[in-house]
Amino acid sequence: MLKISSLKKLVTDSMAIDLGTASTIIAVKGRGIVLDEPSLVAVNEMTEEIVAFGVEAAEMSGREGRDISVRAPMIGGVVGDFERTKRMLAYFVRKAKTGGSNISLQAVMSMVSDVTHVEQRALLNAADDAGIGKVFMMEEGLAAAFGAGVSPSDKRASAIVDIGAGTTNIAIVAKGSVVHSTSDRYGSNAINESLATHLRRHRGLQVGEETIEMLKTRFAGTFLPDDIAKTIEVRGRDVETGSPAAVEITTGEVYPIVEAIVRRIALRVKDTLTELRPEVAADIYDRGVILTGGGALLEGIDQYMRSFINLPVAIADEPRYAIVKGLLSMFEDEKLLERVSINELGVLKGADAPFEA
Ligand SMILES: Nc1ncnc2c1ncn2[C@@H]1O[C@H](COP(=O)(O)OP(=O)(O)OP(=O)(O)O)[C@@H](O)[C@H]1O
Ligand SMILES: [Mg+2]
Repeated sequence: MLKISSLKKLVTDSMAIDLGTASTIIAVKGRGIVLDEPSLVAVNEMTEEIVAFGVEAAEMSGREGRDISVRAPMIGGVVGDFERTKRMLAYFVRKAKTGGSNISLQAVMSMVSDVTHVEQRALLNAADDAGIGKVFMMEEGLAAAFGAGVSPSDKRASAIVDIGAGTTNIAIVAKGSVVHSTSDRYGSNAINESLATHLRRHRGLQVGEETIEMLKTRFAGTFLPDDIAKTIEVRGRDVETGSPAAVEITTGEVYPIVEAIVRRIALRVKDTLTELRPEVAADIYDRGVILTGGGALLEGIDQYMRSFINLPVAIADEPRYAIVKGLLSMFEDEKLLERVSINELGVLKGADAPFEA
C-alpha cells in the first residue's frame, strides 16, 4: 500500500496562466478559472519592498499612502520589470494552487507572437522562479483561437483578433497552427491614456486610473451617439489650483477620442487581412473575424470593425477568458500540447523532476 507521503507526491496541478498587461488569469485543470486579478504590485518607495499584489494592490491604486506606489510590472504584454513580475507570478501561482506544498506544478503560458528571445527567457525564468516545474509556452493567437471555439483539426482558416490592454494580437489559424500573425504593442489602454490626456490638456483636470476606466467602460463607445450632448461628471484634481474639482464632459467629446484609437486597431486588422494567401483569404471572407480580449467589450466595437473591414465580426464568449480557456484545453490533448509548444528554452531545470517539494 502507498504511504500518504508518496500519494501526495503524485498530485500535480496543471495550470493555464494568461499573464497579461492588465490582468493575470489562471485556470487549473479540473477546477476551471480560479484567479483573475490585476497585474499590479504595490511597492513601498522607501524600502522597495512589495507590500501587496493583485486586487489588494489595485485597491491602493490612486489613493496610496505617501510611501506606496502601485506599479504594473508587465508592459505591452511582456515582462517590463523582471524582479517584480517574478514575485507577482509566484504570489498568484501560490494563491491558485490546489493546496499543500507537495502539489507540483506544470503550466502552459502564452506569449505574443513577436516576442523576442530576451523577453521569452524573462518569462520562462519568472515561471521557473515561481516554482513551476515544467512550463510550456504557446503563441497567444493559437490559445485565443482554441478558447474561442476554433477546433485544432479545422482545416479551414479562422481569424482571431485579441485586443488586450497593452497589445493587439492578430492571428490566422488553420489546422491547429498559426499561418499568419501580427502583433502590436498597442491595445485598449491607449483609450485610457488618450482620455486622460484630453481631460488634462483641454479641461484642466487630472484624473485617476479608476475614474478613466469607469469613463471608458460606462460612457465610451465606438459610434457617434444619438445624443451628443449627454453629459457625465468626471472628478479629479484641478491642474492649475491643485484643488479637488469636477468637469462635465459630453459623449460628443469622448467619441472622437475613442474612435481614433479603435480606427487604428481596425486598420491594423484590415492591413493584416491583405497579407493572406488566396485560399486563406477565401476562408476568412466566409467566416470573418473573432474578437477576444477585454478590448472586445468596448461598446459597439464589433459593429465598428464589421463596417470597417466589410466582413462578419463576432465576439467570443467571455472574451477576456478566451486565452486562458484555450491554454487549459491543451491539457486534454498531450500530443497537441507537445506540437504547439514553442520552446527550445522551455524545458527548464527541474522539468525532469516535476514533483519538487
Ligand atoms: N466592459 C469593458 N468595456 C470596455 N473595455 C473594457 C471592458 N472590460 C475590460 N476592458 C478593457 O480591456 C482591457 C483588458 O483586457 P485584457 O484583460 O484582455 O488585457 P490583458 O490580457 O491584461 O492585456 P494584454 O493582452 O495586452 O497583455 C483593458 O484596457 C480594459 O479597460
Ligand atoms: Mg491578454
